[in-house]
Amino acid sequence: MVALSGGTTPEATYRLLADPTGPGAGVSWPDVHVFWGDERHVPPDAAESNYRMAREALLVRVPVPAAQVHRIPAEMPSAEDAARAYERTLRAVFDLADGEIPAFDLILLGMGDDGHTASIFPGSAALVEAHRLVAAPWVEKFGASRITVTPPVLLAARQIVVLASGGAKAAVLREVIDGPFQPSRYPAQCLRNASGEVTWLVDEAAAAELSTAPGA
Ligand code: 6PG
Repeated sequence: MVALSGGTTPEATYRLLADPTGPGAGVSWPDVHVFWGDERHVPPDAAESNYRMAREALLVRVPVPAAQVHRIPAEMPSAEDAARAYERTLRAVFDLADGEIPAFDLILLGMGDDGHTASIFPGSAALVEAHRLVAAPWVEKFGASRITVTPPVLLAARQIVVLASGGAKAAVLREVIDGPFQPSRYPAQCLRNASGEVTWLVDEAAAAELSTAPGA
């Protein structure tokens, strides 16, 4: 059970995983269920769709059964309805009892230069959502809604891998990794409470200000 990230950073990773001679060669794709950690409030064929990016970079090139690709229905006019529908999908596919949280085997995340992850942005009400699995926060900076899994789902994952690259993320990565705990300002800090393993895959430019940076 894997939840993919959107944005631009993971696209190269997805293309690499799709390469039959690459690191994804050993993946038993017919056994994989693919979900998304978040989605923009757009149709699946929109340029900014996280589903579309992952479909084009990975899913059309590996044999994951179509019935095991669970995209967020972000074409629904109401983002809230899309969030409710996706929560129903999670409960059905994970066969959850009431109140149970799905434990993904892997959640792939990114981090914005404002410290957001998934679509949990600074000051977002989604950050303190303790019961719902999926929320539909309005994101002022984009003037749009997003659909996102909530922190309880992130924190229940067996493994989280966060990709961050580029110097524009160096300052915020320092705050997220080394700074005082203030998740409302830096939502990616919520991962400090994850029950599973959290692995940050960052390039040197993004890691340049970390206290553990090479040569630091
Ligand atoms: C999205 C992602 C988001 C992304 C970060 C980083 O929908 O955009 O889920 O959380 O991972 O914004 O984006 P970049 O990889 O484009 O820097």
